[in-house]
Amino acid sequence: MSKFFEIEKTSQSKARAGVLHTDHGDIQTPIFMPVGTVASVKTVHQRELKDDINAQIILGNTYHLMLRPGMDIMQQAGGLHKFMNWDRPILTDSGGYQVFSLSKSRKMTEEGVKFKSHIDGSYHFISPEKSMEIQRQIGADIFMAFDECTPYPCEYNQAKLSMELTHRWLKRCVDWTKENEELYGHKQRLFPIVQGSTYSDLRKISAEVISEAGAEGNAIGGLSVGEPEEEMYRITNEVTDILPKDKPRYLMGVGTPWNILESIGLGVDMMDCVMPTRNARNAMLFTWQGVINMKNEKWKNDFSALDEFGTSFVDRDYSKAYVRHLFVAKEYLAKQIASIHNLAFYLDLVKVAREHIVAGDFYEWKDSIIPQLKQRL
Ligand code: GUN
Repeated sequence: MSKFFEIEKTSQSKARAGVLHTDHGDIQTPIFMPVGTVASVKTVHQRELKDDINAQIILGNTYHLMLRPGMDIMQQAGGLHKFMNWDRPILTDSGGYQVFSLSKSRKMTEEGVKFKSHIDGSYHFISPEKSMEIQRQIGADIFMAFDECTPYPCEYNQAKLSMELTHRWLKRCVDWTKENEELYGHKQRLFPIVQGSTYSDLRKISAEVISEAGAEGNAIGGLSVGEPEEEMYRITNEVTDILPKDKPRYLMGVGTPWNILESIGLGVDMMDCVMPTRNARNAMLFTWQGVINMKNEKWKNDFSALDEFGTSFVDRDYSKAYVRHLFVAKEYLAKQIASIHNLAFYLDLVKVAREHIVAGDFYEWKDSIIPQLKQRL
């Protein structure tokens, strides 16, 4: 049996190109993972995700799926892959982060979190064990430990207590998963999450505790929550210095195209973010030339291709003037076209980054391209 993670090439410094082997296929790393919160990548069809965007893995969310459709339906369907007809890898987040960002009312104890559903106001309880059970029922190839993500800024003592709770919860996650096998015949891998806010000493302790868990991959959480970008890079760098080199590293919830490239440069292998899809729905397009506000008057009679360097069919088939018109007219198709474009761009970005890692000139390339990516067109 082949190893879960194989590193093909390490480039100059910390960046690396690798492959993740899952029972639903291989993932070339570094990789960006589109977010499909409620068993759907918003506005994008599974067929487009596969054939046009070439998404190699997508995300689902425990919090949303436990509330709707619920685990009875999920199990009747035979898990999330079958339910949504997606036969490539899936990763699920564990629920805690979403409880804190979405539920208006919640009470946390050592045992877990009681919260009020943002959908119908009903009360629910989620603990490390419950999160593991739900993630078994969903059946993702990679599933996340139940953690607490601190807000930014966060007092040192609060960050320390929260990190320690996350570590105790990790042990409960590991114990539960050892005793409860997969439900659908394919392997599931548990990734623990490093916390510790912006405090170097806490991050060091957390990265050591998480490394000692001996998981097949590790994640960095608690970032991209409002801290300055430089802080995010500093902490990521400190944590990747400690996390095992031979295991994949997943930076959660990041980010802009330039955040993605900087993180890859710091030794990150996997990333996810709602930004390409959420911003697309608000008419923001990311391209190799810079960031475009599709509603801008200046595109009104620009009949050139949506993105002459884009890889997706939407980039060639439609003009800027047409897509601007769709946004102004509030047509659903505008959001669909923009989401396909942005996801295809993010997947192209990490693919080209990988090529530069393999070629051995990643850092020069990254530094030369980032100012261009940040331009406002
Ligand atoms: N998504 C973005 N950040 C986090 C985090 O810190 N924890 C979890 N579970 N999910 C996240």
